Amino acid sequence: MSLRDDLDLFSNDAEARFAAADEADALEALRIELLGANGREKELTKVFAAASIDDKKALGGAFNAAKQKAKAAFEAAKARLAAAAEDQPIDLTLPGKTRRTGSIHPISQVAEEVEAVFESMGYGVIDGPHIEFDEFNFTRLNIPADHPARDHQDTFWLDHPAAGPGKRLLRTHTSAVQSRSYPRLTPPFRRVVVGTVFRYEAVDATHDNTFHQVEGFVVDKDITVAHLVGTIRTMLAALLKRDDIDVRLRPSFFPFVEPGFEVDVRLTKAEPGSRFARWMELMGCGMIHPAVMTAGGIDPNAWQGFAFGLGLERLAMIRHGISDIRVMHGADLRSLRQFGS
Ligand code: FA5
Repeated sequence: MSLRDDLDLFSNDAEARFAAADEADALEALRIELLGANGREKELTKVFAAASIDDKKALGGAFNAAKQKAKAAFEAAKARLAAAAEDQPIDLTLPGKTRRTGSIHPISQVAEEVEAVFESMGYGVIDGPHIEFDEFNFTRLNIPADHPARDHQDTFWLDHPAAGPGKRLLRTHTSAVQSRSYPRLTPPFRRVVVGTVFRYEAVDATHDNTFHQVEGFVVDKDITVAHLVGTIRTMLAALLKRDDIDVRLRPSFFPFVEPGFEVDVRLTKAEPGSRFARWMELMGCGMIHPAVMTAGGIDPNAWQGFAFGLGLERLAMIRHGISDIRVMHGADLRSLRQFGS
């Protein structure tokens, strides 16, 4: 076959195959095969270079025309595929990419909301230490050593219980923050504390050994139980976010309040016999005992106040219908994600 035949074959083959290319990858493979550094065009160039002067003169025009035809066929195919890619319709039915986002733990959620609700009612948010002195956790709350009320809150002692007045413990309730902050506060004042508390307690569906409480306390003039009840109602309406709540207040004993109450909650639409159809204790509260005020340097004849302490886990349980407290402190993300925000 003559060089002229080879040139015709090359350019016709290139034209037909570039025209048939229907994908960018196939077009690129074809470009390398025909026009690349070691491709068919380069082979023909070598043959042409080795030809006689007369042959070169006779075939020079045909050689250039064959190269241009192949190049033009490639450029046309490239432009055609680029235009097709732009017209490609978007497939809205393709599955999207899922992103795993974290969620706020149900306890953190209610803790943040509690602080926001009380700030809106003019309360300042304060904090206190987890490791507390016996004095603030018990003695200044009208629970002297050897008082049987200490047995209500089984305690993790850090010093031996007989160590004397400076002995320390893991605080059993946020009421300790009341007694430790009274000497630094000047009435009138309203404060709220959200924090972790610890009790040497057998764990069951509604009790854990590490849990969270909200403590609120108000000291002002002419404060009555009506203010306390109104505050509790406002708080529960804002935090529980349900319309099937039944609340009851019953007399109870806490040495640091007089009179004292407990607040129980149940859900009116709960399945009969279920955990939420029965009353669940949510919080303790009452009018601050004069002995507690005196211990904190506040004159009980000039000022009155109320205080309450509420379990955050119990609040989250009622809000989300969680029947076992252990779900919230376990690390099972399948459970926690359901309640996160
Ligand atoms: C107290 O801790 C008092 N300091 C509350 C108080 C404050 C009364 C101010 C009066 C004035 P009590 O031990 O009942 O009280 O606990 C308060 C709330 O914490 C309970 O109603 C309950 O909601 C929650 N709670 C108590 N023990 C546990 C526990 N083991 N696990 C989870 N939540 C608990």
